[in-house]
Amino acid sequence: MRTPLVAGNWKLNKTIPEACKLVTELLPGLQTVSGVEIVLCPPFTALMMISILLEGTDIHLGAQNMYWEKEGAYTGEVSPLMLKDLCQYVILGHSERRKYFGETDQDINRKVKAALAHNLIPIVCVGETLEENEAGRAAEVVSKQVKAGLTGVSVTEGSQLVIAYEPVWAIGTGRAATPEGVHTVIRNVIRPIMAGILGENMAQFVRVLYGGSVKPDNAAEFFGKPEIDGALVGGASLNATDFVRIARAASQK
Ligand code: PGA
Repeated sequence: MRTPLVAGNWKLNKTIPEACKLVTELLPGLQTVSGVEIVLCPPFTALMMISILLEGTDIHLGAQNMYWEKEGAYTGEVSPLMLKDLCQYVILGHSERRKYFGETDQDINRKVKAALAHNLIPIVCVGETLEENEAGRAAEVVSKQVKAGLTGVSVTEGSQLVIAYEPVWAIGTGRAATPEGVHTVIRNVIRPIMAGILGENMAQFVRVLYGGSVKPDNAAEFFGKPEIDGALVGGASLNATDFVRIARAASQK
């Protein structure tokens, strides 16, 4: 019922020529993958060129962050109005934004609402740290982040929403969470919280991705779980062969 989605988060990597090269390497493989929505999230500087390279394909583009105001005296920021000409998606609240740039749940909520108001699909990231996990607080932390992130989002807007569950300890560490553990968090925590805000039907409609050390060798196991609707891929999205293999694994879902 929910179309699988695989998004590549390139983070702070790739100059414009490097980004174009990667897209050129990705395209032949990605275009053979069916039944999966694919989103590339390069740095802002490469969005324009890549949007041209993706013309005529059904591969989508996303940004990695955004400010909530649409214009004004906010030096260095990029607005939803600027992004909506270039891309369809925007990653919001990634744990690296929370950790290194001090983004709060309230900031993320403002961004989510601004993205939705401008017809950008937010990929809202949530996930507990290692410390929180070891203290048995994963459910509490994730439910608070989902609740705060979606405050004020209407039921109809819920149809244009993606959640990414990314335990912080699994990101970039090579130590992925277990598919069973992720499935349980989504089923027992994320969907019930969404149901409280958006209603049961919409909560079942929203795609929830897993992120954290997803590789070609473990992707199929995650996609085998009914609650895991795809992946937000960091490191492995910078390698064309690996990213195509992950997208292909999602098409088996
Ligand atoms: P990773 O990153 O795949 O390199 O662990 C995932 C993410 O940060 O979105």
